[in-house]
Amino acid sequence: MEHRVIPVCVREGYNVVIGGGLLRESGPLIRAALGERRIAVVTDSHVEKIYLAPLMESLTQAGYDASPFVFSAGEQNKRMHTVADMLEFFAAVGLTRKDCVLALGGGVTGDMAGFAAGCYLRGIDYVQLPTTLLAAVDSSVGGKTAVDLSAGKNLAGLFHQPSMVLCDTECFATLPPDEFANGAAEAIKTGILDDESLFSLFESGDVLRNIGEIVAQCAAFKAHVVEEDERETGLRKTLNLGHTAGHAIELCSGYTIPHGHAVAIGLAIISRAAERLGWAEEPVAARITRTLRQNGLPTTTEFSPEELANAALLDKKRAGGTLTLVVPRRIGSCDLMDVAVERLPEIFRAGMEADA
Ligand SMILES: NC(=O)c1ccc[n+]([C@@H]2O[C@H](COP(=O)([O-])OP(=O)(O)OC[C@H]3O[C@@H](n4cnc5c(N)ncnc54)[C@H](O)[C@@H]3O)[C@@H](O)[C@H]2O)c1
Ligand SMILES: [Zn+2]
Repeated sequence: MEHRVIPVCVREGYNVVIGGGLLRESGPLIRAALGERRIAVVTDSHVEKIYLAPLMESLTQAGYDASPFVFSAGEQNKRMHTVADMLEFFAAVGLTRKDCVLALGGGVTGDMAGFAAGCYLRGIDYVQLPTTLLAAVDSSVGGKTAVDLSAGKNLAGLFHQPSMVLCDTECFATLPPDEFANGAAEAIKTGILDDESLFSLFESGDVLRNIGEIVAQCAAFKAHVVEEDERETGLRKTLNLGHTAGHAIELCSGYTIPHGHAVAIGLAIISRAAERLGWAEEPVAARITRTLRQNGLPTTTEFSPEELANAALLDKKRAGGTLTLVVPRRIGSCDLMDVAVERLPEIFRAGMEADA
């Protein structure tokens, strides 16, 4: 079967392999990349029911001795106590420095399994097998791992690059539509940031038919960000496009609005503001809002510009009296812009007056 392979060139380097039905080929692919290991498979209670059996079968056929660890699905379980259970499990099944963890699931699974692999015996290898679109286009590449603390999301974590990412695009067929839309929001963001052709794949409609290409383009962009990051180019900061208002919306809603949906509204707000305040080189807002809506995402919010600005200024990205916004110039190109924090309500208002 045809696979797409995107190399990520950091330290030892690793590949992101993308294809339909890849889960059934995962055993031989892992053996080719990593050789003989003992394996612990980490997955959540939803993904277990659908995808654990085909993965285990492929691993067994390839001669692997693999033990599954299943935790209760949901962000509320992305906590230290789940990682502690995972670490005890790794020890109980006798994983050594040379062994390996597989993370089968969405961003919650990947973030926690990566964290646990990064601290077990001071770091063992792990492989990401993303099953949500969000994990495929965003969280599985880059090596950021984390758990939530009572004080906030992702407050404890470490950088630990995976040894390989295997993305079976057939897994997205069973995603609830809202979860698919959540991932689509981040991929559309990447298109606005960096690549008009990627944006066009969402604009022109047949997203499922093009999903392999979409994941490949997003993985290539993430790879580029991770590679450049070592040179501090500020590229990673551009990933925050739509996130200043997006995070504020999540906060104001008490986290009842999912991240991708909040980011979609944030993308709509910043693109309307960029157009109205003369920052954009060409009209961007109508194209962006239409494409978001077409992909099941919202573009307006009930919260006021003042409420959002207050919430945004509580956010950790504030630095002194200014704040860095990511501003679309046109589809496929954005710039970082420092603005005085006092201007934020006015900027949000410009982005929220009558929907574009
Ligand atoms: N590390 C990073 O760089 C990074 C980047 C972005 C987000 N994140 C993190 O990712 C997390 C969100 O990821 P997520 O949206 O994938 O959440 P998730 O892992 O909780 O998955 C969402 C839901 O979909 C279910 N699911 C997963 N795959 C499925 C499938 N194929 N079919 C049916 N159901 C399936 C899961 O069981 C869960 O209920 C957050 O914790 C966020 O902080 C990390
Ligand atoms: Zn995001």
